[in-house]
Amino acid sequence: MTHDETRQATLHPTVAALVEKIGRREARIGIVGMGYVGLPLMLLFSEQGFAVTGFDIEESRVAALNRGESYIVRIPAESIRRAQQAGFRATTDYSEVAKMDAMILCVPTPLNEYHEPDLSYVTGTVDALAPYLQAHQLVVLESTTYPGTTDEVVAPRLESGNRNGLRVARTGEDLSSPCVHVAFSPEREDPGNETVARADIPKVIGGCGPAALELGKALYGSIFRRVVPVSSPAAAEMTKLLENIYRCVNIALVNELKQLAIRMGIDIHEVIEAAKTKPFGFQAFYPGPGLGGHCIPIDPFYLSWKARQFDFHTRFIELAGEVNTAMPYFVIEQIAAGLNEHSKPIKGSRILVLGLAYKRDIDDLRESPSLTIIELLRQRGAEVAYNDPFFPRVGQGRHYALNMTNTPLENLAEFDAVVIVTDHTSYDYEKIVAEAKLVIDTRNATRGIRSEKIVRC
Ligand SMILES: NC(=O)c1ccc[n+]([C@@H]2O[C@H](COP(=O)([O-])OP(=O)(O)OC[C@H]3O[C@@H](n4cnc5c(N)ncnc54)[C@H](O)[C@@H]3O)[C@@H](O)[C@H]2O)c1
Repeated sequence: MTHDETRQATLHPTVAALVEKIGRREARIGIVGMGYVGLPLMLLFSEQGFAVTGFDIEESRVAALNRGESYIVRIPAESIRRAQQAGFRATTDYSEVAKMDAMILCVPTPLNEYHEPDLSYVTGTVDALAPYLQAHQLVVLESTTYPGTTDEVVAPRLESGNRNGLRVARTGEDLSSPCVHVAFSPEREDPGNETVARADIPKVIGGCGPAALELGKALYGSIFRRVVPVSSPAAAEMTKLLENIYRCVNIALVNELKQLAIRMGIDIHEVIEAAKTKPFGFQAFYPGPGLGGHCIPIDPFYLSWKARQFDFHTRFIELAGEVNTAMPYFVIEQIAAGLNEHSKPIKGSRILVLGLAYKRDIDDLRESPSLTIIELLRQRGAEVAYNDPFFPRVGQGRHYALNMTNTPLENLAEFDAVVIVTDHTSYDYEKIVAEAKLVIDTRNATRGIRSEKIVRC
């Protein structure tokens, strides 16, 4: 995009009018997908004085929001009610799209059973909103996806699905003709991170044309301290994947080195802490029982899939996936070894899994390694219970229904082993070690506690 093209786009009256409307906080913003990403994003816009409409297909979620309730633990109902005072309401009715100035899509992007991208939520959303599109609206996709999705999937469907003959304004397009603006901006939220405020996380954006980029900069510039423009939606899509692949590969590296360190009698955590003192060229990643969450175990495979179209094999992603997927099996080996010291097999042992969430202090169970560990223990004949303050009960596991309820942290001595899978800060680890017969610690939660009962892995 040349400087002239960008200037021309900014100066076009329809674009300038929307930029000004955003500046006055009068732009109507629609967010599709009121989940872990969409709901906090709604709050950010709302805190800045925007009236936001939240779209979701789940009627129960829409009803809860309109009653001023929250279904995400870290979001208090009070903040939903404040947003309502600023004009927030939720709906399942896509005809409301016609009243919006900007639409932001935050719907899921999982993998299907063949480990391939499942874009059905994105295409379902695009097809549902396209008939109601109006000229000069901005549509931004935030769902994590492979490079090319916005240009190759979203833009053409918006064009073919709308009733007003609107075209997506690309570079060189005449902005006076009926058009819509389309961009991609990855979500970088880190659930449970209390140290970086959401507004301080720089927002990357790439537009299908210069006008989309200018509008996106204005929109996100009103809630984020820094906006980072890139040259295309594909560059923005790839940025998100690079970030997550970087995490996935580095976690796999420490997970592998941890296994070696255990064999060599070296404490990997001591090594990481020492390495961390290097002021350049090293970033600490921590080993664990396996990857979880909606992002790191899934997103890299969006790129692997797309790479095949270019006869390219993404070996780092595959290798990291292999190492990380094997981690719950490694934990099972460590549990077996720990029980062996007490002359017990896994079969028939009573085992308490401590912490189910895929990471500390959050209420998200998606892809959590704890579920795999429970399933593997049950397959081996163990009697398994769990404790997690965020989950009173658990229905579905990874592969089958678990139908378990939370076990209170009493009588820990009744269990043959307690396995720390998630290191929630509310746990009193000293007490847990004191009361349990055997503790398998996959998170280094018991650091500093000296006891023969602990197996650190
Ligand atoms: N959760 C995170 O921490 C995180 C971080 C960065 C990026 N992301 C990405 O953001 C996207 C959304 O993730 P999430 O965690 O918010 O998902 P989520 O499952 O928490 O929320 C998605 C919401 O979209 C709704 N929905 C699904 N299809 C719809 C449709 N056709 N129309 C309207 N609503 C629909 C669902 O009912 C749900 O409320 C994904 O692509 C994910 O990879 C998530």
